[in-house]
Amino acid sequence: AQLDKYAKLAGLSYFGTAVDNPRLSNEQYMSVLQGSGEFGSLTPINAQKWKNIEEVQGVFTWTEADAVANTAKAGVGGTKTLRCHTMVWYKGLPSWVETTYSRADMEKILTAHIQNLAWHFKGRCYAWDVVNEAIDDNGVFRQSPMYKAMGLDFITFSFNTAAKADPSAKLYYNDYALESPSLSPGPKISITLAMLRTVKAQGGTIHGVGFQSHLKVGLVPSRAEIVSTMQQFLEAVDEVAITELDIRHSPLKLPSTRAMWDAQARDYGEVVGACLEVNKGYGGGRKCVGVTVWDFTDKYSWVPSEIPTEGEACMWDNNYVKKPAYWTVLNLF
Ligand code: XIL
Repeated sequence: AQLDKYAKLAGLSYFGTAVDNPRLSNEQYMSVLQGSGEFGSLTPINAQKWKNIEEVQGVFTWTEADAVANTAKAGVGGTKTLRCHTMVWYKGLPSWVETTYSRADMEKILTAHIQNLAWHFKGRCYAWDVVNEAIDDNGVFRQSPMYKAMGLDFITFSFNTAAKADPSAKLYYNDYALESPSLSPGPKISITLAMLRTVKAQGGTIHGVGFQSHLKVGLVPSRAEIVSTMQQFLEAVDEVAITELDIRHSPLKLPSTRAMWDAQARDYGEVVGACLEVNKGYGGGRKCVGVTVWDFTDKYSWVPSEIPTEGEACMWDNNYVKKPAYWTVLNLF
């Protein structure tokens, strides 16, 4: 079975996975990634983040990011789409960015950074997550160095710099808890929509919104809720995508049971089903363009190390065995 192949037949542009560099030398991992044709798109998990590209100002390290980009070119089933991630985020910053800058200096820093990334990968990125997670759970703008120097303008500025530097990439705003108002205590969705309208009113070029979809089993919004939120965002942008899907058990109770995995499978079905469903409402036009999982195997999921006591969030288990979530998603296609 091949998720990407059937996702394409069901009207998506790709079914993809995120990948981090240490995995590229693991044969078993690579045989699923490349050998089976399950994935038609890759996203680097960490390689393109600012601190990995330019830890020292003006000194660029492209090795890891290029390794992921080259992996997207190789492999069974031909070239994979590359979703590039991410230009401007409040985390993953080198320490030299984490200080106070004037507006003018921050504009220079952002211009250089965005141009370097966009030019280096020009022609290779289907999409760029230009700005990632600018708004917190309460709907408040995160006090990043960029925000402190430029206020909300840093967002428009970043999108327009990216648009000039790589006019062919789709430019995305990417965030979590956008899937339903039930997922955040504050008005995150309405604040995000207002931000997108402001950016557009300021002449900003923004094509898409990425729904990260880091979710918890049993707390996943219904397909209809997700469709309705996607429709709201599609009034502001041309397309949406599921960009970092994983659905963790929270808390994770071991040993895991078949019932836990079945509940997770139903939740995966709601999210991927929403992406398929939303496309039906636009005269056959593709509006939710694709789904990316934030790695495919529990063996390498970011969850247990960064969100302790939670986990088993992926479609393949620790031993690369496909879980019920895999079959539920495949059956949707
Ligand atoms: C995470 C990675 O998975 C971790 O390896 C890293 O330590 C921190 O970042 N939202 C995002 C991703 O946009 O970039 C984050 O990735 C997960 C949350």
